[in-house]
Amino acid sequence: MIAPSVRQALVRNGAKSTQRIAAAATAPSSSPPAATRGYATPSKPNQMATPVEVQSTVSAGRGSAQRNIKSVGGGHRDLVSDVLESAPRPSTAKRPIYLDAQATTPVDPRVLDAMMPFYTNQYGNPHSRTHAYGWESEAAVEAAREHIADLIGADSKEIIFTSGATESNNMALKGCAHFYGSKKNHIITTQTEHKCVLDSCRKLQDEGFEVTYLPVKENGLIDMKELEDALRPETAVVSIMTVNNEIGVIQPIAEIGKLLKTKGAELAKSKGLSGKPLLHTDGAQAAGKIPIDVNKMNVDLMSLSSHKIYGPKGMGAIYVRRRPRVRLEPIINGGGQERGLRSGTLAPPLIVGFGEAARIAKRELAVSTRGKMVARGLGRRSRDGSYCKC
Ligand SMILES: Cc1ncc(COP(=O)(O)O)c(C=O)c1O
Repeated sequence: MIAPSVRQALVRNGAKSTQRIAAAATAPSSSPPAATRGYATPSKPNQMATPVEVQSTVSAGRGSAQRNIKSVGGGHRDLVSDVLESAPRPSTAKRPIYLDAQATTPVDPRVLDAMMPFYTNQYGNPHSRTHAYGWESEAAVEAAREHIADLIGADSKEIIFTSGATESNNMALKGCAHFYGSKKNHIITTQTEHKCVLDSCRKLQDEGFEVTYLPVKENGLIDMKELEDALRPETAVVSIMTVNNEIGVIQPIAEIGKLLKTKGAELAKSKGLSGKPLLHTDGAQAAGKIPIDVNKMNVDLMSLSSHKIYGPKGMGAIYVRRRPRVRLEPIINGGGQERGLRSGTLAPPLIVGFGEAARIAKRELAVSTRGKMVARGLGRRSRDGSYCKC
């Protein structure tokens, strides 16, 4: 059944058939239609919170959803947003509690407040150099860059904006591999990396690069001896995530960085190759959650994601060390923005949101880290009895 308000939206937007784009309110029923998307699995109808009916092709898969939306014609975006607006939201009381903050986080209202002016009044292109609209956007982008750099102990010139950690990871691996080419054609990573790292490595293997996938121990950490044994003179880059997105273990990145500076550099020199293997780390689950200092950790490249720290989705960055300079071949070419490493007009609202999220994360991390230390201290003191001596 289509709700009257939804029907109006469809008519307003000139939809030919209500079956084509039907996002309508339906009361929970004992046998939900096949095209029902709810907050509980359709196989357990009695657990359904107020479901939102969507067109069957949308729930059938991404490809068919795209086909369907395209078929609506010009005003489909308005139509979709009208339809979504008209659809009843599930009652908060019935909605399950969302606990997977590793997958994503909501946008912090403070972040959203900071973003909004850049969608409406302050919409200048940050690359427009000749007028105030451009300057104000550019100033906001640069302020955000400072906050992100500050979160990981970097210089703001070392932050390159991307669409997310997936792009950053692709850029780090493919960029390094393509820059060094056949001179240094070996990459080391772990078997427990995020899929975007593993798939980038597979792609590079198809191109002829050699990849070592290190296993992890029972506790999820790599064995440093295995890493040392895997190093070769031709190792161009070692990519090991800081915090694992499934089990949360923190890899010994600073120790790995030291090993590459000593053993890695020695091996390269023995074959007359310059430099040491670069250390890339996927920091998507680490930044804003644990203190990070790229210099203390000897990291050369770090991938970051905004939506893991209460910032907007579709936004990320990569830290690229400037001294000594890390060389990468860009994977996106064009206008030469972002030090030529990532062309394309920047998205000020998203960047401002990411910057604000980073600023808040840094401030609140300091408080929560102190809190943890206090908690640990109390735990220790209560174990040794000193806390109870009163
Ligand atoms: C460790 C890790 N790397 C990379 C990503 C991809 O990040 P994004 O969604 O910003 O592309 C994620 C998010 O799922 C992640 O947890």
